[in-house]
Amino acid sequence: MCGIVGAIARRNVAKILLEGLSRLEYRGYDSSGVAINNLDGVSSHRAVGKVQALRDKFAVEPLDGKIGIAHTRWATHGKPTEANAHPHFSGDDLALVHNGIIENHEPLRRELKAKGYEFKSETDTEVIVHLIHDALKTEPDLLKAVQNTLTKLHGAFAIGVVKNDENDRFIAARKGSPLVVGVGIEENFVASDQLALLHVTDQFIFLEEGDVVELTRDQVTIFDDNGEVQERPISVFNHNVDATDKGEFRHYMMKEIYEQPKVISACLDGRISETKVLTSCFGAESGFLKDIENVHIVACGTSYHAGMVAKYWIEDLAGLPCSVEVASEYRYRKVAVPKNTLFLTLSQSGETADTLAALRMAKELGYLTTLAICNVPSSTLVRESALTLLTNAGPEIGVASTKAFTTQLTALLITSVAIAVENGLSAEKEQELVQAMRSLPAYVSDALSQDAHIKVVADRFANKHNALFLGRGTMFPIALEGSLKLKEISYIHAEAYPAGELKHGPLALVDEDMPIIALVPHNDMLDKLKSNLQEVAARGGELYVFADKDTDLNNEENITFTEVPKVDSILEPIVHTIPLQLLSYHVAVVKGTDVDQPRNLAKSVTVE
Ligand code: F6R
Repeated sequence: MCGIVGAIARRNVAKILLEGLSRLEYRGYDSSGVAINNLDGVSSHRAVGKVQALRDKFAVEPLDGKIGIAHTRWATHGKPTEANAHPHFSGDDLALVHNGIIENHEPLRRELKAKGYEFKSETDTEVIVHLIHDALKTEPDLLKAVQNTLTKLHGAFAIGVVKNDENDRFIAARKGSPLVVGVGIEENFVASDQLALLHVTDQFIFLEEGDVVELTRDQVTIFDDNGEVQERPISVFNHNVDATDKGEFRHYMMKEIYEQPKVISACLDGRISETKVLTSCFGAESGFLKDIENVHIVACGTSYHAGMVAKYWIEDLAGLPCSVEVASEYRYRKVAVPKNTLFLTLSQSGETADTLAALRMAKELGYLTTLAICNVPSSTLVRESALTLLTNAGPEIGVASTKAFTTQLTALLITSVAIAVENGLSAEKEQELVQAMRSLPAYVSDALSQDAHIKVVADRFANKHNALFLGRGTMFPIALEGSLKLKEISYIHAEAYPAGELKHGPLALVDEDMPIIALVPHNDMLDKLKSNLQEVAARGGELYVFADKDTDLNNEENITFTEVPKVDSILEPIVHTIPLQLLSYHVAVVKGTDVDQPRNLAKSVTVE
């Protein structure tokens, strides 16, 4: 959802900004731009398309200066055109980049037009830069003019502002959209994500909601929303920088799929012993576990699918009611909260606007406590939740989530067992489940060994326009996730149904052009699922079955069979996810789509 970078240094900042944008491209990639302040004024380049298009402009006409701001866009207001690309200007001396949405931009635009301001773009952003320009007429100090302007904005923003006669500072601010300060030696930076600055620093300050920051070469001064100077701690980034490298792989997505055995181990590490779940992983306050009587899970997209699996686990293992809801629905309805309900959010990024809004609402509703299962330790979600369980997947760059999803499931399994233990799960059963979890990384590796076979299967999808995914029980959310992955990166329309629902409508879609992907677990639903497959076969549907060999489906005619390792049923949703990720990946490669940055999407959805 747009990424911003800003820099002030004693050297030319153009390269720093362009590299930062490339690293932020996962947040939006329909257009980009840079504004650089040098002693002659503020100059800029903007380009439609990926950051490479902007680099090409710099190659023809380099810009040189020691203060700059930059932006990669994911269009919300106005098409991806050069005129709508950031930075936006008021006059030719004041430039601004923005991530977020200004909800009251229409009345503000009318007010500014009445004052004679001319708008050159269709964006909501342009009102901010004109408002600052207007504020400067009565308050010549840039910092104060920005502070005054921010009080007029409704919505979410992270901004960076440069002005041509300000050669020793630039201003940035955040409210509702992420922004981190990178602290260097005689140079300082801001960005939407610390990954964007790892080439220049590993020291970061995470801004709080409402913070405004003045950056000079030697100092970072942070003001809270009351204008009071605040000291915020510096954190040192401790991920392996190589995590942002594709290594031997052609795409980040494939690298991230292959990292799963390792990151699932990292997620389990320190959270289970030989026999038990270690409740200390929830922090010192793990006492909340025994008080839980209900669980509400709220999340979006892929994370929501992980929550759907957890509902089966929590109700089955702990016997407690669990509801799962997409955050964009939850946040706009009146919610009834039963006594002693745990509010559990799931988010890979920890910056998803709807999930954050749901958390903020939940905090007012009398929940027992709030727990975030998240991949980004420094994220807003983690900082605003009472309790956190990190998924430890490392940075995920591919827009389509893979390792972040399976580690969410792993963390949810740990949580479900921990809750179940407080609700009468026997020590014997706990030990059995923990043993199963310990073998999970090895089974995920086994599942990856089907890669070459799946690549061949994927060729048969190249000309398909639709696909239907079927599953029962925990395999239903995995079918939903498989269909989401396929549509996201290959643009094939895909739907998922609980297999038992087939005859209630979707069977009408089945003919020889419709591939049906069936996830067949080896449990007491096996025979029922086999009947559903017969219903499809009888109508000429093309069946792709993912199952273990003992299901005996590998010898059936008219079935394209992909073997999935036979595992304890609790692990099935995680292990079955792997071949579906590989299938979507290979289909996308055959179709020649942009695997890591599929059209219209962004990695971190920081707008509603
Ligand atoms: C799909 C995908 C999205 C995200 C969703 C929520 O591959 O990644 O559906 O799951 O946008 O994002 P997070 O998990 O960061 O809250």
